[in-house]
Amino acid sequence: MNNKVLVTGGTGYIGSHSVVELINAGYEPIIVDNLCNSKIQVLDRIEKITGKRPTFYKIDCTNEEEFEKVFVNEKFDSVIHFAGLKAVGESVIKPLEYYQNNVGSALVLLKLMKKYNVKNIIFSSSATVYGDPISVPVYENAEIKHATNPYGETKIIIERIIEDFVKANPSFKGILLRYANPIGAHKSGLIGEEPIGIPNNLMPYITQVAIGKLDHLNVFGNDYNTIDGTGVRDYIHVVDLAKGHVSALKKFKEDITCVAYNLGTGRGTSVLELVHAFEKANNIKIPYVITKRRFGDIAINYLSAEKALKELNWKANLTIEDCCRDSWNFQVNNKDGIK
Ligand code: NAD
Ligand code: UD1
Repeated sequence: MNNKVLVTGGTGYIGSHSVVELINAGYEPIIVDNLCNSKIQVLDRIEKITGKRPTFYKIDCTNEEEFEKVFVNEKFDSVIHFAGLKAVGESVIKPLEYYQNNVGSALVLLKLMKKYNVKNIIFSSSATVYGDPISVPVYENAEIKHATNPYGETKIIIERIIEDFVKANPSFKGILLRYANPIGAHKSGLIGEEPIGIPNNLMPYITQVAIGKLDHLNVFGNDYNTIDGTGVRDYIHVVDLAKGHVSALKKFKEDITCVAYNLGTGRGTSVLELVHAFEKANNIKIPYVITKRRFGDIAINYLSAEKALKELNWKANLTIEDCCRDSWNFQVNNKDGIK
């Protein structure tokens, strides 16, 4: 295997952190991103952190003709496929765009991988494929039925496509990484999550309240059957998540077919626990109001991290406090966004 890795969506939140960890581990990432949800300046930031500027192609993965040029120009054995649209609410309003972009990108990518004999793919899947789990922590062999929204459905469909593709082409290998909720940022404060408009997700909402862009946090329901009535999730530091991809790449040296791994912490944290951890870590008060439940939300979801430890030799090391400190550091350092 050579040390080049194709990284689609590599200027995005998880992609950029993974590119940093890949460079740190001696890989040479080649990024393909259409910049629909990230900025070109992320490349400067990656260079500042690592001293290396990754090769970059501004290409839409659904555009086969353009995408093929990357396969012609570059030699790589493995792909990490982050590129995709990820806003759950938006996917309910624009399902066709989500199926076209997410499923379409994956189909083009696999077709090109087959044509150019690129044999290894890691896919960014999500805990959302488990829906409302029957029990927690959720193990990889939990039944996967239907997602509650088109975004989640694209993840289930793409997982299935990769499984079928590997079955039909036994010399190919697939790793499906089902992420818990990534938060935090690189400790340099140079890269992090930059939501467009009002954030949907909890941590970016908290940091925007903390910096005064938003007035208060709305806590969506305190009548769930959880420790304090608020929703419980498995929050994972994005740098731990990024390192999970480096560990997964090493697995391709083994004789595998298509395997799924949870990248989570095995630990649940409630909304109010996260708010209080943020307040303590950064010494800032977060005003909040309890509102009604958000449509489509579930009470509890956290992932077993045992299989990834056993088979990838990976586990999350950073704490919720690290997450809170680093998310805030990124917000403070980028008041007007990455420029
Ligand atoms: P992100 O939006 O920050 O990154 C995705 C990147 O893909 C962006 O840079 C965007 O410009 C690019 N992109 C989208 N469609 C493209 C296309 N057709 N061609 C080329 N580039 C395209 O999102 P993220 O949080 O970094 O998520 C990365 C992946 O992980 C996504 O597939 C997402 O669904 C998955 N995931 C994210 C979370 C999360 O909470 N952030 C959780 C589970 C899974
Ligand atoms: C959501 C998506 C999931 C996606 C993940 C990461 C849904 C149903 N699921 O997960 O598919 O992978 O984002 O992008 O949308 N909360 C508040 N106030 C807020 C925001 C959130 O109380 O302003 C609560 C939520 O009710 C939930 C928790 O915080 O209990 C986490 O919410 P969020 O960050 O949106 O993530 P998920 O809902 O787990």
